[in-house]
Amino acid sequence: MDNHQNYQDSKELYKKEYLLKDGQKLIVRIPEPGDAESLISQMQTVDSETKFLSREPDEFNLTVEQEREFIKNCTNDENVRFLIGELDGKIIASCSVGLIQIKRRYLHRAGMGIAVLKDYWNKGIGIIMMQECINWCKEKGVEQLELEVVTENNRAISMYKSLGFEIYGTKKHALKYDDGTYADEYIMTLFLNNIKPM
Ligand SMILES: CC(C)(COP(=O)(O)OP(=O)(O)OC[C@H]1O[C@@H](n2cnc3c(N)ncnc32)[C@H](O)[C@@H]1OP(=O)(O)O)[C@@H](O)C(=O)NCCC(=O)NCCS
Repeated sequence: MDNHQNYQDSKELYKKEYLLKDGQKLIVRIPEPGDAESLISQMQTVDSETKFLSREPDEFNLTVEQEREFIKNCTNDENVRFLIGELDGKIIASCSVGLIQIKRRYLHRAGMGIAVLKDYWNKGIGIIMMQECINWCKEKGVEQLELEVVTENNRAISMYKSLGFEIYGTKKHALKYDDGTYADEYIMTLFLNNIKPM
């Protein structure tokens, strides 16, 4: 059996609907290989809209076929959840959450990333996608959800704080931009079992 059949046979894909505060219907779902082209376009747009993600705008260079494979691999990987947000059939958000390492000493920790297209900020979509990641962590028995965020990314930091994330450290010069300037990142963690380090 090849990968494609494996993928098709094994999954009932997760999908959920939300009503946004402006009345629009947001669909949050696991992407399918047929979403590859739209996902590439969403990634390239967010990369060009913000300095707060890990890539320079021209650095997302997967082909459609590679993106299809990536989607299939994520879907088949029980240690990862990759989700997209869709409004009127357009992919406007994506997030992924996954275990940090598949070793017993790390199975209590997950990491995540999120991006919403700028035109759709401030509608509550970020919080919904975050909550989806947190729910996945709870289902998997993850104890702490960790992320890194540029210290100037006030919008993201207030979103994370509103969900209970706290800052536990700073990585100096975590990013270096093409123009030679640097950005620092906060390490933020949400302790899902309320056992916080002293
Ligand atoms: C960060 C990001 C995901 C937020 O998405 P969003 O859909 O705008 O978020 P929401 O509308 O759900 O707002 C969530 C919270 O953000 C905060 N927020 C929203 N607008 C804000 C603003 N203008 N200033 C400060 N905080 C703001 C609030 O806490 C808000 O909660 P509230 O509406 O209950 O007050 C989005 O801005 C984004 O994709 N940015 C670019 C990529 C990025 O920075 N990703 C994170 C990398 S670590």
